[in-house]
Amino acid sequence: MKAIEIRNKYLEFFKKHGHTVIPSAPLIPENDPSVLFNTAGMQPLVPYLLGEKHPEGTRLVDYQKCVRTNDIDEVGDNRHLTYFEMLGNWSLGDYFKEESIQMSFDFLTKELHIPVEKLSVTCFKGDEDCGRDEVSAQCWKKAGIDEKHIYFYGKEDNWWIAGEEGPCGPDTEMFYDTGKEPCGPDCQPSCDCGKYVEIWNNVFMEYFKSKEGYTKLKQKNVDTGLGLERMAMLLQGKQTPFDTELFLPIMKKLEELQKIDIIESRRIIAEHLRSSMMIISDGGRPSNIDRGYVLRRLIRRMIRHLNKLQIDLNELSNLIEINVETLKEMYPELEKNKNQIKQVIEEERDKFVKTLEHGEKEFKKQINKLENTKIIPGEVVFKLYDTYGFPPEVTKDLASENGYKIDEKAFEDLFKKHQEKSRVGSEQKFKGGLAEQNEQTIAYHTATHLLNAALKQVIGKDAHQRGSNITTERMRFDFNCDHKLTEEEKKKVEDLVNKWIEEALPVTKQEMKKEEAIKSGAECMFIEKYPDIVTVYSIGEISKELCGGPHVNNTKELGKFKIKKEESSSSGIRRIKAILIK
Ligand code: ALA
Repeated sequence: MKAIEIRNKYLEFFKKHGHTVIPSAPLIPENDPSVLFNTAGMQPLVPYLLGEKHPEGTRLVDYQKCVRTNDIDEVGDNRHLTYFEMLGNWSLGDYFKEESIQMSFDFLTKELHIPVEKLSVTCFKGDEDCGRDEVSAQCWKKAGIDEKHIYFYGKEDNWWIAGEEGPCGPDTEMFYDTGKEPCGPDCQPSCDCGKYVEIWNNVFMEYFKSKEGYTKLKQKNVDTGLGLERMAMLLQGKQTPFDTELFLPIMKKLEELQKIDIIESRRIIAEHLRSSMMIISDGGRPSNIDRGYVLRRLIRRMIRHLNKLQIDLNELSNLIEINVETLKEMYPELEKNKNQIKQVIEEERDKFVKTLEHGEKEFKKQINKLENTKIIPGEVVFKLYDTYGFPPEVTKDLASENGYKIDEKAFEDLFKKHQEKSRVGSEQKFKGGLAEQNEQTIAYHTATHLLNAALKQVIGKDAHQRGSNITTERMRFDFNCDHKLTEEEKKKVEDLVNKWIEEALPVTKQEMKKEEAIKSGAECMFIEKYPDIVTVYSIGEISKELCGGPHVNNTKELGKFKIKKEESSSSGIRRIKAILIK
């Protein structure tokens, strides 16, 4: 079964069971400073898991585009991916364990036709925070899973949370038995030998974890995630996702073009190219910080592996075409944004190629200097990064090709110091996690709406929001504009926002049909990404935007608004950094 058929079957199945299909949120989270990319289907739904009413009801289903970069070094083996699609269904205070488990069982056995004996499941074994999950085990038994195929594990395996804090709970995971020989008498689903592959995770989200500990959520939710590429691979009887229709065309082309045969390099190129294309299509651009830096690393590492296979870098445009053809049915946005994708990747290639040769020479020089060690010091890795634009993965690849390792920890320390120095990025963001929605970030969120409205009055109606990022310390706001703002313009914008704050305007929320919202003139960044029923936030008469919230109730809660900086973000896009002073 092809990936797109699995996706369609999934959406249809849950629709039949009363779920509303909602669109995938863009890869780049809006107004969530704590994560670089959406890493799970639940991320855009956090406010609703915490109790806010979702305009589409209490049963939702979607496919979510995800990027996870923790294992970026592992790409090239037979399973790791940085980009993947997660199918998910949610109960927001609606059904719980029994119905969720029955639906998962029926989908796997009746829709995907997986023989029941190939399935094993795991449940939470209980600890001081939460009891043993006998209910889930009973539900699996009732559905038809043999008791011998039900396992109990602790928090390390059967508890799910995104990052350190947020909604969480025990989960039950489903595993597919590939039929491989067990690695020993103790071979179980928790074992990493490859016999059992995790295919789906149902989280029973009843708790909220904060620094102080666990509390119960207002409602009991279900959050599930099924990895599409992996499921396609298993159902097609393939050994790796690179052998499925999602990667075959590009893998074949690389084989044709290469002068040297290295399968890991082909996989890295295929994977990083797909990931980069998805990120660029959703608005990402290469840079030296945060998500821009992730994209830069993906593109540069891919380029080095193209060089390694001695593939002409002018082939990139063809490779992008092939991926668009392969993926456009699943992601029509790739075809729409094709030219931009090519432009961004080719510009980045040209920048990197300029330093690549010198950097490789420098690398050789440095390893020749090393005595009695096979570890390349952090300073050398950092110099290659700082002077030649070598992401650590690239240096690591080079090192391992020459029989060396890099001192990653020392590099990380230097890198962090460097980032702190330039007051950008934070390690937190690389870890992933949930938005810190506290009083301060909520206030900044409302301030972005005021700034958006003020820019329209001062610069012109066509000044639209192109992105935003909020921390507890400041807000950042990107918008399109063809010139650097003058001092006068900046002052006007600032004064307008402060005037609206002083006017104590009420912030109100309304649900309506998407078309109505647009007709009424509400602002929005990615219209196609919103569901049919949307939430619109209005601030007095001056602002109206499609937005998930949350916001303050009245602008008087904001304090004084001050622009700290106005600068270029990328071509045609300006960036304002501003603070609120209480
Ligand atoms: N949020 C859960 C996961 O990512 C379903 O596994």
